[in-house]
Amino acid sequence: VTKGPRPVSTVRIGIIGAGDIAKAHVLAARGLNSYFGAEGLRADVVALADRSPEVAARAAQAYDVERWTADWEQLVGAPDVDAVIVATPNDLHAPMAIAAAEAGKHVLCEKPLARDLASADAMVDAAERAGIVHSVNFNYRRIPAIGYARRLIEAGEIGDVVSFQGAFTQDWGIDPTVPRSWKFEASRAGAGPLLSLGCHVLDLAHVLVGRVDRVVSAAATHVTERPLPTGEGTYAPVDPARAGTLPHGEVDVEDLGTMLLGFAGGALGTFMASRLAPGRKNHCFLEISGTAGTIVFDYEHMNDLLVASGANATAGLTRIVVGPEHEPSHVWTLGGLGVGYSDTVVLHARAFVTAIRDGTPLEPSFRDGRRVHEVVDAAMRSQSTGRWEQVRDTA
Ligand SMILES: NC(=O)c1ccc[n+]([C@@H]2O[C@H](COP(=O)([O-])OP(=O)(O)OC[C@H]3O[C@@H](n4cnc5c(N)ncnc54)[C@H](O)[C@@H]3O)[C@@H](O)[C@H]2O)c1
Repeated sequence: VTKGPRPVSTVRIGIIGAGDIAKAHVLAARGLNSYFGAEGLRADVVALADRSPEVAARAAQAYDVERWTADWEQLVGAPDVDAVIVATPNDLHAPMAIAAAEAGKHVLCEKPLARDLASADAMVDAAERAGIVHSVNFNYRRIPAIGYARRLIEAGEIGDVVSFQGAFTQDWGIDPTVPRSWKFEASRAGAGPLLSLGCHVLDLAHVLVGRVDRVVSAAATHVTERPLPTGEGTYAPVDPARAGTLPHGEVDVEDLGTMLLGFAGGALGTFMASRLAPGRKNHCFLEISGTAGTIVFDYEHMNDLLVASGANATAGLTRIVVGPEHEPSHVWTLGGLGVGYSDTVVLHARAFVTAIRDGTPLEPSFRDGRRVHEVVDAAMRSQSTGRWEQVRDTA
């Protein structure tokens, strides 16, 4: 018995940037076929591009992708590429996504959308002018517990939101021998964890609470120089015996930063982002309280949601193991099996490919990505002025 013809055409994807996150996107395309093939969704990674031919060739071999190139423009122009995933350092998102949009390719851009607000503006304009499907990979929106939190808030289960507490802390920057990769260069990354990690939390704040309309922010850099990269990876410390002998480069982004947030709807919030929090691995934390309840989410326990609501709201928080009965997009019929990081990118690929196939609206779009830049831009102004700054409001 043969499986018969494919139910739909396959979306053919090219990925630019074959570094750490590229693996997740290859896995997402393949996971899509397994998880959601029954919905007629199919994707295939047909090409990889990386500035380094060695990295590109190694990745193509490891991930079993048919072809690779060191010339990203070649990938963008290839007639057999329907959609481009931009997975390069932040300063390259704008030129690559704009070129891909102008070539008529659908674009999924890694987060943050850009290095800065001006580039984000140009990306939104180019994508909308080209009429392509565009999205920013705020994959944390796809965590089923977040989907459930959103449903509860929209159903009024916690009443009117009055406060938001957000944190995103990691510890890999604590070792001063971790190399000065592009993530520590303002001209490439735009900012440190306030943007890199903060973009996920600020996007979730927008979705769960509403528009942030003013901020005040402070930031600090404790490790002011690091050994220049040796090609051995972004996060691994250099051998301490060698670290002293390597040339060092300046760090000009924050190691940690804070914001106070004022929401247009009246809620107030706090946010802390850090790469210097020993013991915190990927502590993306949200606590949202309303007039009738509270919701708590912690990525390190991403299958759970703590909820206080209803008549017993003040009795304490109840732990809910989130399954498809709470959030239908859950990938398993038995929710207790749980989801992980990879599932979030598969779920995002599902939304992206569905939008390409059916022409359905897709969130988060480049506009959602820009919204985060509007907040971070105001935060960076506040770091200079020491005052509350208004957040630009582009619908
Ligand atoms: N959504 C998430 O959870 C998540 C997680 C990690 C990283 N990211 C984002 O993904 C992007 C990439 O991050 P990463 O950690 O994979 O970085 P990385 O440094 O590991 O990989 C970037 C790759 O881009 C390549 N590159 C650089 N210039 C290029 C060019 N001109 N042409 C082609 N390739 C080029 C580099 O050689 C490198 O292999 C960043 O924007 C980052 O913020 C998102």
